[in-house]
Amino acid sequence: MANSSSGDSVTERIVRILETFSAERTVQTAAEIGRRASLPSSTAHRQVDALVEAGLLERDDEHRVRIGMRLWELALRGSAALRLRQAAMPFMEQVQSVIREHTQLAVLEQDEALFLERLSSPDSGANITRIAGRLPLHASSSGLVLLAYASTALQDRVLAEPLVRIAADTITDAAILRRTLTDVRRLGHVVAPGSIEAVSTGVAVPVRDGAGTVIAALSVVLPRDAPTSAALEQLTAAAAGIRAALSADRR
Ligand code: PHB
Repeated sequence: MANSSSGDSVTERIVRILETFSAERTVQTAAEIGRRASLPSSTAHRQVDALVEAGLLERDDEHRVRIGMRLWELALRGSAALRLRQAAMPFMEQVQSVIREHTQLAVLEQDEALFLERLSSPDSGANITRIAGRLPLHASSSGLVLLAYASTALQDRVLAEPLVRIAADTITDAAILRRTLTDVRRLGHVVAPGSIEAVSTGVAVPVRDGAGTVIAALSVVLPRDAPTSAALEQLTAAAAGIRAALSADRR
């Protein structure tokens, strides 16, 4: 891959450009992208033009750009995330129709919980999760499940870093986190009240593939003091259904 004078490859530059987009920042000018990606203005304009030409970015009438449909199409096509989401959707719909609160599917990605799907109804309560958004592992029910079944290397890394307090009841003590992870593995679920926002309780279970490996977390976000047993029952049944669907898919 050709390198620029600053030594970064074309691929690295493209990734830096794409990473300037976020859930909050969906539309930008090439100049803004260049600034945020720390690229010289001429490089940013040239690279953005090339990405628009390829359809990976789209330009509007005011010359601002956003992530293109073609990038979405290519990213989803044949991806493991899509296969998992498709297997999970009927079971998530079942959970959502009974519990009527946010139902979400997350995977471990670069030391965070990345959300692949979220189903909500108009009367569901508060929820900060976004599809294609991330939450910290130690501060969300999905994250705690993903961390509990992650490699010991990852667990040790997370436990060694400061555990940032996001809400009053975020676990910030490494010893308590370690105990919580042991409990998650023993019980096969977590109930995390006020972990990431005071008004909600996250309830999550692991999702296993046909071989029994934990590949995702399935969760429901309930109002803080709502009972959790119905949600746990639904989530457990859904996770078993997803596992069976993934096993059948493999044959
Ligand atoms: C959680 O998974 O614990 C969670 C996620 C999003 C919220 C609240 C709780 O808004």
